[in-house]
Amino acid sequence: MKTRITELFGIQHPIIQGGMHFVGFAELAAAVSNAGGLGIITGLTQKTPELLAKEIARCREMTDKPFGVNLTFLPTVTSPDYPGYIKAIIEGGVKAVETAGNNPQKWLPVLKEHGIKVIHKCTSVRHSLKAEAIGCDAVSVDGFECGGHPGEDDVPNFILLPRAAEELKIPFVASGGMADGRSLVAALALGAEGMNMGTRFIATKEAPVHDNVKQAIVAASELDTRLVMRPLRNTERVLRNAAVDVLLAKERELGANLKFEDIIEQVAGVYPKIMLEGTMDAGAWSCGMVAGLIHDVPTCKELIDRIMVEAETIIQQRLAGFAKR
Ligand SMILES: Cc1cc2nc3c(=O)[nH]c(=O)nc-3n(C[C@H](O)[C@H](O)[C@H](O)COP(=O)(O)O)c2cc1C
Repeated sequence: MKTRITELFGIQHPIIQGGMHFVGFAELAAAVSNAGGLGIITGLTQKTPELLAKEIARCREMTDKPFGVNLTFLPTVTSPDYPGYIKAIIEGGVKAVETAGNNPQKWLPVLKEHGIKVIHKCTSVRHSLKAEAIGCDAVSVDGFECGGHPGEDDVPNFILLPRAAEELKIPFVASGGMADGRSLVAALALGAEGMNMGTRFIATKEAPVHDNVKQAIVAASELDTRLVMRPLRNTERVLRNAAVDVLLAKERELGANLKFEDIIEQVAGVYPKIMLEGTMDAGAWSCGMVAGLIHDVPTCKELIDRIMVEAETIIQQRLAGFAKR
């Protein structure tokens, strides 16, 4: 399948693995890229630029295909060493960067100068248009269904994607709620040129996370996620667990007076405990509603191959069949 996204990133299939904190290590990124998609290392999971450089080198040893790095621009006071991370990306020869969070404008000239393609993650049409205006090459349009930070507008992909298609000139991928061949065909029908998956890629053999995480996703239904931190305008979709119930009770109790410090125990530093140690109630961790569509733990190659076969069958048989009647 050839789309503007496969052309832009030099990949075989229009499938991207979104950056995921404490999931997007070299093992997963390499497995996705080896299967013909675009694997992404999560930059900030590596505590220093030096460690990111090592992770990029490790990934390079596992694949000769293109892969990318996610740079999440956090609204924190003490900023991570972004220039250092960007230097590691450039020197590591990485040609694709997925940016997310705050506006990446400041960093675009240096990335472009080194021939790096930038795909910015956006949860609204207005942010997508801004990304286009500042010179991003593509957008990952993240609907309300998505795991992680869906923004504050709550527009699901059935509306958000065709709205993005109405306005954008640069290509975009559908992100949030994507799991299989049906998702890919629907995304293409709504105007996207591929899809980005987060939660689905956690439940794969190569994802270097504790098996408890994979089993929690397989066991979860589409009813099992919750939105947390809405009062702080930093909404995150997470899998419901004991810590999330405590967090939501605090939100209800404190209302508009809620401060980050009140919920710090449930959200700060919890990812290593969950992803690496499998302590599933340690805190709130991102997970999409798409968990309801995830029933197994395949390899990345099995997953991607099956998506492509299913997508092509839907297009050539089911949809073509309707057109003939
Ligand atoms: C566990 C987890 C961690 C994530 N961490 C990040 C992150 O650090 N930076 C980022 O830009 N997106 C992050 N995301 C969002 C994903 O890249 C992707 O946009 C999202 O998962 C898509 O929705 P889906 O889960 O329905 O596929 C994370 C998602 C999950 C599930």
